[in-house]
Amino acid sequence: PALPRVFSGIQPTADSFHLGNYLGALRQWVAMQDTHDAFYCVVDLHAITIEHDPAVLRRRTKVAAAQLLAMGVDPDRATVFVQSHVPEHAELAWVLGCLTGFGEAGRMTQFKDKSSKQGSAGTSVGLFTYPVLQAADILLYSPEPGPDAPDLRVPVGEDQRQHLELTRTLAGRFNHRFGETFVAPEAFIPKDAAKITDLQEPTAKMSKSASSPQGIVDVLEDPGPMRKKIMRAVTDTGSEVVYDEEKKAGVTNLLRIYSALEGTSVADLEARYAGSGYGQFKKDLAQVVLDTFTPIRERTLRLLDDEERLERLLAHGAGRASAVAERTMEIVRDRVGF
Ligand code: ADP
Ligand code: NA
Repeated sequence: PALPRVFSGIQPTADSFHLGNYLGALRQWVAMQDTHDAFYCVVDLHAITIEHDPAVLRRRTKVAAAQLLAMGVDPDRATVFVQSHVPEHAELAWVLGCLTGFGEAGRMTQFKDKSSKQGSAGTSVGLFTYPVLQAADILLYSPEPGPDAPDLRVPVGEDQRQHLELTRTLAGRFNHRFGETFVAPEAFIPKDAAKITDLQEPTAKMSKSASSPQGIVDVLEDPGPMRKKIMRAVTDTGSEVVYDEEKKAGVTNLLRIYSALEGTSVADLEARYAGSGYGQFKKDLAQVVLDTFTPIRERTLRLLDDEERLERLLAHGAGRASAVAERTMEIVRDRVGF
């Protein structure tokens, strides 16, 4: 039987991914290519829903793609590509937008949050229809429905559940109006995905938009500053290395990072550091973080230095994605009456 499909996208909105992106999403991308027919997309169309600089976007798109490959996403097993290289994303988004109610789109809580930050003058129609483009991103890679159709899976955090629900609704609505075309995608939380908090404000999520430079560890950061940030991570006035989300949020976050990166249980780490204080614990953790990210950083920089190779890999990914997306759109165009 065919492997289940998985689709996931990430925005090129920073010059590096961070530790939270890695442990909460990207490491799972690498793992899922063994068990899924995986489609991984750098969603640059989504990155222009708020004001942007073209040169910065172009650079960040390349850096994002290079990091995915450097982390171990294998371009011969997974389909790794840039959204704008496959124009069918925008075309299907238009069709799905015409099936979306204005009020239905207006109920998306992410839009309410983001638009309230932009103010009404800075809020684009693109920001409003963003979830429709996400639906198109996913449904373009739908297997053909039928009794033997493989699953279509989408890894989602809590904040994206409502958008996936809209995608399922739109898939069902299209099928109902025009005939069975899409498999309804299923949300799933990938195994071992860890929520990472800010190193300086350990009760808040580590986030590129909200974290201070000292609170966030970038995948591409130089080793010196990276080590310092871990050493200076906020803990508490105690000295016990124990997991306690409420009373010891800082230590708990560090234990979670350590456990995820080394593959050791939290209980084993607590036992290893019983009585040794925070200093040694952080020093060892810093080494584990460096050991993880140094090779990724080096591979990323090598790929960015060899622009021709990176472009060749992305053209290869776009070709694989297009083969599926074009087939889906042929069916969609025909059913819609084009
Ligand atoms: P940010 O929150 O920094 O803006 P994004 O929203 O672009 O990052 O998230 C990209 C991916 O990384 C998503 O799958 C998201 O769930 C995951 N992610 C982001 N921050 C964290 C975090 N602190 N811990 C775990 N996963 C995270
Ligand atoms: Na975010």
